[in-house]
Amino acid sequence: MTNTEKMLNKTVAIIKKYYDHSEKHPVLKYTSPDTFKKNIKLNIAKKGMGIDELFNEIEKIALNSPKTNSKWFFNLLVGGEILPAVMAEMLTAVLNNTMHTYKSAGIHILIEQEVIKFLLKKVGYKKGDGIFGPGGSLTNMIALVLARNEKSSSIKKSGIRGEKLVGYTSDQAHYSTEKFISVTGLGKDAIRIIPTDEKWKMNIKKLEENIISDKKKGYIPFYINATAWTTVLGAFDPIEKIAKIAKKHKIRLHVDAALGGWALLSNKHKNLLKGIELSDSVSRSLHKMMNVPLLSAVLLTKNPNILYKNFNENADYLFQMDEKDLNPGNKSIQCGRRNDAFKVWTALKYLWESGYEKRINNEFINAKYATSIIKKDKNLTLVLEPECINVCFQVKWKSASKICEALDKQGRIKVGYGKRKWKEFIRLMTVNADMTKKDIDNFFKQVKNVKI
Ligand SMILES: Cc1ncc(COP(=O)(O)O)c(C=O)c1O
Repeated sequence: MTNTEKMLNKTVAIIKKYYDHSEKHPVLKYTSPDTFKKNIKLNIAKKGMGIDELFNEIEKIALNSPKTNSKWFFNLLVGGEILPAVMAEMLTAVLNNTMHTYKSAGIHILIEQEVIKFLLKKVGYKKGDGIFGPGGSLTNMIALVLARNEKSSSIKKSGIRGEKLVGYTSDQAHYSTEKFISVTGLGKDAIRIIPTDEKWKMNIKKLEENIISDKKKGYIPFYINATAWTTVLGAFDPIEKIAKIAKKHKIRLHVDAALGGWALLSNKHKNLLKGIELSDSVSRSLHKMMNVPLLSAVLLTKNPNILYKNFNENADYLFQMDEKDLNPGNKSIQCGRRNDAFKVWTALKYLWESGYEKRINNEFINAKYATSIIKKDKNLTLVLEPECINVCFQVKWKSASKICEALDKQGRIKVGYGKRKWKEFIRLMTVNADMTKKDIDNFFKQVKNVKI
């Protein structure tokens, strides 16, 4: 047997063991960093390991990794998996094509184009363009840069020369807008944090008041970030109404649909994003609710030329062959770029829209079921009627953070907590489409019985 065959066999054996182990041990007991340091040969020594020893270590690592594919994983925003997409991701590593040119990625450029075309159609942009990038946060950043450059034609070349640009996002939006406004060179003071209403959506009255007041003071509003599914509470900002304000004041509207964009594949739930086609750009993290492996995120733009216009450089040592559309490196902020589209294409080919729709609808059904349990139980209090699949609740007289920590340490389930002002609450997310009512029942049993 060649070494390649031996390693392939060992890899397949580890994957099989991992899936078997996940079935039997959906959540691992907490292991301290010190225990890992003792039990796994983490240090990079002068001498390498042989294949057998190395794969023994790899197996231990795999079986001791948090199991995000488990049905008892109710934490954060990845969960579940679509197996053919996992296989496509493994193949992607084997093929190792960088996505800047057709010369280096060939057929994968066409696959990426096809996925972007599909996603644009779902948003409702008639033409448009898109670029895959490293995560929802960074695609939000690209949207900020585009908006900044579009507002002032000299910024791309000469930098900021005193333009007083200001942007707007809600107090429930993801932190990436606040974080990356400083990367655009505008500084954190250039973002206005708009309060949310009683449903924890952006308060559009306050948004317009801020815009008018800024204009009076000589500021130039350039960017509104609306969120489709806020990270903690799962609220959808009223995109259609925000779009009207954006149009009236000539401001670019970006929709952070890192999470919520998945609902566009469900006829029953796509209304949550009503008006998204009126925006100028949209970011999506497909590695979250579309259940493909990390990373897979994309920025979609209504204007089909804006990415090329802003990020094209004359790298004649790189872009030597083929027309510009076949060389997406010239519309990206990256040079070498991972192939994050192949797994999405594979998942869509496998499930198609109807399969995804079924999964999405099931996630909503599970969230509804969880909500009904909370409403019936006098020891549980619902924080907010869920708009999607974030079910936020409190356990009477018990600290949410302590419950979540105890559940994790005791290896029961993985779930996180959120806070708003003085309120701390458990945030159950029915992120795994394969979950059943039995898993939800188990969730509440564990939450209620855990010793803190
Ligand atoms: C609303 C929202 N936008 C953006 C992001 C960032 O996405 P990523 O983790 O892909 O960088 C998140 C992450 O949870 C999010 O909840």
